[in-house]
Amino acid sequence: MNKIVVLPGDGIGEEVTDWGVKVLEYIGERFGADFTFEYGLIGHSAIKATGDPLPAETLLKCRSAKAVLLGAVGHPMYDNDPSIKVRPEQGLLRIRKALGLYTNIRPIKIFDELISASSIKAEILHGSDILFLRELTGGIYFGNRGTTEDGLKAFDTMEYSRLEVERIAEKAFEAAMKRNKKLHSVDKANVLDSSKLWRKIVQEMSAKYPEVEVIHMYIDNAAMQLIRDPRQFDVVLTGNMFGDILTDAASQISGSLGLLPSASIGNEVGIFEPIHGSAPDIAGKNIANPMATILSCALLLDLAFDMKDEADCIIKAIDDVLKDGFRTRDIADENTPKSMILGTDEIGAEVMRALEVRLNQSVMI
Ligand code: IPM
Ligand code: MN
Repeated sequence: MNKIVVLPGDGIGEEVTDWGVKVLEYIGERFGADFTFEYGLIGHSAIKATGDPLPAETLLKCRSAKAVLLGAVGHPMYDNDPSIKVRPEQGLLRIRKALGLYTNIRPIKIFDELISASSIKAEILHGSDILFLRELTGGIYFGNRGTTEDGLKAFDTMEYSRLEVERIAEKAFEAAMKRNKKLHSVDKANVLDSSKLWRKIVQEMSAKYPEVEVIHMYIDNAAMQLIRDPRQFDVVLTGNMFGDILTDAASQISGSLGLLPSASIGNEVGIFEPIHGSAPDIAGKNIANPMATILSCALLLDLAFDMKDEADCIIKAIDDVLKDGFRTRDIADENTPKSMILGTDEIGAEVMRALEVRLNQSVMI
């Protein structure tokens, strides 16, 4: 049973997951993987239909799947009204917690063709390749919070337990061992107790991995270093909130937020989703970039189905399309001819074409 649950969510979520599903269907047919797809609601669209950003039915479907492909959640109607109690983002946070997805993997790679799409200078970016591991079910996102009755004070708490730090740190050390054996652990241990504990545990665990060079870095410095010299990083381990902020910043290293995939994993089924949001301003206009979702499908194949060769093929197909000069709006620059700027459906079709060419040439068949 190779069930994949698709949660398109809100905004551009539907358009981009459509292309993810097309790619997965194609790979499934080609390799007899026999994927079946089931759809569920999350976010604003779920609130509209059921009043709940994560209906019980959605969670149930996910629990019986091998993998979940998610689009994006969020809607502008909530942005200027913090008093609204039921919000789309709660659906995302609740599903992460319910499925125990404590490890959020965000690979940041520069596609050479896109160096000029970044706001950072090409010579600084060249060769950057960073793997972020963001803790996803703890920290200030899930600590005790509240607002006083008079509405004059509000608080959120950043908490980390030994177990929470150990399990994500272990994933980070393991990842570093498979890469360049360099691990930056990002915290704010000069101020926060939760960071002091974080640092202590990472230091202790480093004894088990003597080959891995561990560098502890404060979050403010890390944010600066990421832009100053991204090549110094290999694996970056960080907490929930710091990781949220750092990975959006890091998207500029790859050229665009429209290119960054992510995988959230734990002990059960994993969720694979683009890092970008629901982008309501461009929803339904056939201009969103589906590449981050398609790359998330590559992670899905690799991590949930052990189909690494097929996953690599997808990444290469995206690279081929970029090499051919095709762009969506977000990754075009002043030198891109208008005729090469494609819509969501057109660039999705190009990726499929490139994938077919690759698979026909490939020895894996
Ligand atoms: C992300 C998003 C979410 C987060 C929001 C939508 C709750 O920004 O996946 O990075 O903050 O984790
Ligand atoms: Mn974010």
